[in-house]
Amino acid sequence: MTSAPSQTRRIGVPEIRARKGGEPIVSLTAYTAPMARMLDPHVDFLLVGDSLGMVVYGFESTLPVTLDMMIAHGAAVVRGSERACIVVDMPFSTYEASPEDAYQAAARVLAETGCAAVKLEGGVSMAPTIAFLTARGIPVLAHIGLTPQSVNAFGGFRVQGRGDERAAAVRADAQAVEEAGAFGIVIEGVPEPLARAITEETHIPTIGIGASPACDGQVLVTEDMIGMFGSFTPKFAKRYAELGDQLGTVAADYAREVKSRSFPGPEHCFDPEPANTKAK
Ligand code: KIV
Repeated sequence: MTSAPSQTRRIGVPEIRARKGGEPIVSLTAYTAPMARMLDPHVDFLLVGDSLGMVVYGFESTLPVTLDMMIAHGAAVVRGSERACIVVDMPFSTYEASPEDAYQAAARVLAETGCAAVKLEGGVSMAPTIAFLTARGIPVLAHIGLTPQSVNAFGGFRVQGRGDERAAAVRADAQAVEEAGAFGIVIEGVPEPLARAITEETHIPTIGIGASPACDGQVLVTEDMIGMFGSFTPKFAKRYAELGDQLGTVAADYAREVKSRSFPGPEHCFDPEPANTKAK
């Protein structure tokens, strides 16, 4: 008797949505299949963030990221994972001009990657677009507060929502995206009490990054978390490991062995004749 192949069902958008006020939602970014494979058992959703423009491609901001880049990386992350819900970022200039443009771009993302949902930046101004997408079967995770695609308007990557008036604007953004049908809200770079208040007054999960432990979940850029993205780490990104330093040490060991001809050793070289029938 052969045993049935194991069927792992992916976590879906409704399950993420249902976690409001429940067990905290765990999320990390992933841009490649191997990274997705390593993170998959530990997270509820993997975010294919447009932060890949800075982390993988070395751009100064997320603005040069294209839809084709997001689709290629989104599809890789879907292939590399089996359990996590996959959310792919809509890149700058693919969704802002009109709800119809947003629909065309988001439909490509869903169809060509196999992901479950898209994320887009904006609150009150993007509410009609979120309503348009969700009415047509495209689940949307909203992103408010420090929205990196607005870096030029903000004059840098600055904390948003400080002061009563600005805090009220971020709260209005949260309310607008909830009413428009978003299944969750990423809240980035806002004062802690503001993120806490939004979490209390909304009925959909809030996912914090530089926000509050009171949020319904947390997300981090994986490379920030493991020390693999330059020397600057934002205040909110706890470094759980220094793999960048470790990689430097390993590369130096390799370079020393190549120069001293101690690598490759005999165990890494091929015999003229195979010792047995197995390819060696
Ligand atoms: O692009 C990204 O990785 C993001 C997260 C920082 C939330 O939007």
